[in-house]
Amino acid sequence: MNVVTIVGSPRPGSQSRRISDYLQRRLTVLLPGVVQGLVDLADRSVPVWDGDFRKHPGDDRSSTWNSVSARLSEACALICVVPEHHGIAPPALKNFLLLCRYELGHKPGLLVGVSATDGGSYPLAELRSSATKNNRICWIPEQVVVRPAKQMLITDDRSDEQAPDHRLKLRIDYALQLLGVYAECLRAVRTSGVADYKSFQYGM
Ligand SMILES: Cc1cc2nc3c(=O)[nH]c(=O)nc-3n(C[C@H](O)[C@H](O)[C@H](O)COP(=O)(O)O)c2cc1C
Repeated sequence: MNVVTIVGSPRPGSQSRRISDYLQRRLTVLLPGVVQGLVDLADRSVPVWDGDFRKHPGDDRSSTWNSVSARLSEACALICVVPEHHGIAPPALKNFLLLCRYELGHKPGLLVGVSATDGGSYPLAELRSSATKNNRICWIPEQVVVRPAKQMLITDDRSDEQAPDHRLKLRIDYALQLLGVYAECLRAVRTSGVADYKSFQYGM
């Protein structure tokens, strides 16, 4: 199984990156043999969409988008780590999602919110309502919100049941395991031959 993690913060050294690293370590433990990719929006490998539908970066062989696109295509599931910036999902993440054509189509996605305080859920609601019309990502119902981010998931140790993030760690493991099962099941949708991106290029 191949799982790609999208680090949705454009900030170098973000909490979203630290939490993504934690999620990847847990995935290695929970899904033995898992192959993992990572797209960190802070490394500027995703070009900015200039609004021209006829000139997708993927049509330019020299574009950095092509290696990102390949990483997405190889995956059968994604984890999308979404920081709350001014109450919304970062524009860099929205830009990434609209550049995706069908690389992530009919693949399950786990949303993970990140907030410095007690927020983090509005950006997830935003992505659930508006981020999948054309790329056809399937967000799974389970989601995770890490808050207050700087104090959570500092160590991988899970033995202290009184630790403030003990329950969060259990929830993360649960969500990652569910994501693995969705990945197995949605493979059938993609291989069914029913998905028709030629007749129905854009969602309604
Ligand atoms: C420009 C900016 C705006 C932010 N706005 C919010 C916010 O509206 N709500 C919130 O809970 N945290 C907010 N934060 C704090 C982030 O939640 C915090 O930086 C957290 O670590 C996740 O972002 P990061 O992954 O970029 O580090 C903001 C941070 C930045 C840089």
